[in-house]
Amino acid sequence: MKLILLGAPGAGKGTQAEVVCDNFGLQIISTGNIIRQAVKDETEMGLQAKDYINNGKLVPDDVILKIIKERLSKDDCQNGFILDGVPRTIAQAEALDALDVKIDKVINIVVEDDVICKRLSGRRVCGDCSASYHLDYKVPAKAGVCDRCGGALIVRKDDEPETVKERLNVYHKQTAPLIEYYEKQGILSTVYGQEEVEETSKLLLEVLKEK
Ligand code: AP5
Repeated sequence: MKLILLGAPGAGKGTQAEVVCDNFGLQIISTGNIIRQAVKDETEMGLQAKDYINNGKLVPDDVILKIIKERLSKDDCQNGFILDGVPRTIAQAEALDALDVKIDKVINIVVEDDVICKRLSGRRVCGDCSASYHLDYKVPAKAGVCDRCGGALIVRKDDEPETVKERLNVYHKQTAPLIEYYEKQGILSTVYGQEEVEETSKLLLEVLKEK
């Protein structure tokens, strides 16, 4: 299965991608995680992307397309994958179509902006392995420490309230038009993501089990 998870920043794409991965054994491709790692490693792409990501802007389409082409050509994607956070513009979606990657389903996770702002203020991520936590909804066993690798939990730079506002503006202007794009292709399903994580997962897995 080839799946796209659409949704605003903080809608729960990363959280639900892990649930789908556990249930279907699909590779998760998160452009956000790939870019953050490149920024940390100070690669050429990371240096190019750093200011965009830190200021809540989209990284240019040509950079994203290069990442995606490279990633999708790897062996671990040949049996299916979950695209988390990509495409994010109509140009990226068209480029993906042009690669002849036949997407089976696009799931749009819908959450209101004010809920997102509250959620993102409580997110903490592992500075080493990128695992994601929440101060109220996904609390690590030991405060400030990653359950998975023991790394220190930090606040993502783009989770500052002003940057979250900008990310939401960018989402509504540049990414939300993808809802209609995939609706027209007849592969879009909508899942309401405002309730608890487990409730959203249940709805999402039901959609994936539908033919
Ligand atoms: P990216 O890392 O993809 O960030 P995002 O899309 O803004 O999404 P988030 O990671 O913030 O949220 P999410 O929907 O995954 O939610 P999560 O599950 O973590 O991209 C970052 C940046 O990279 C972009 O701004 C851009 O600069 C660049 N970029 C990436 N891809 C790009 C592209 N294709 N084109 C151009 N630029 C690109 O959940 C959030 C929090 O809420 C967590 O703490 C979680 O525990 C909690 N939570 C989740 N679900 C629930 C729930 N149901 N109830 C309560 N809490 C919940």
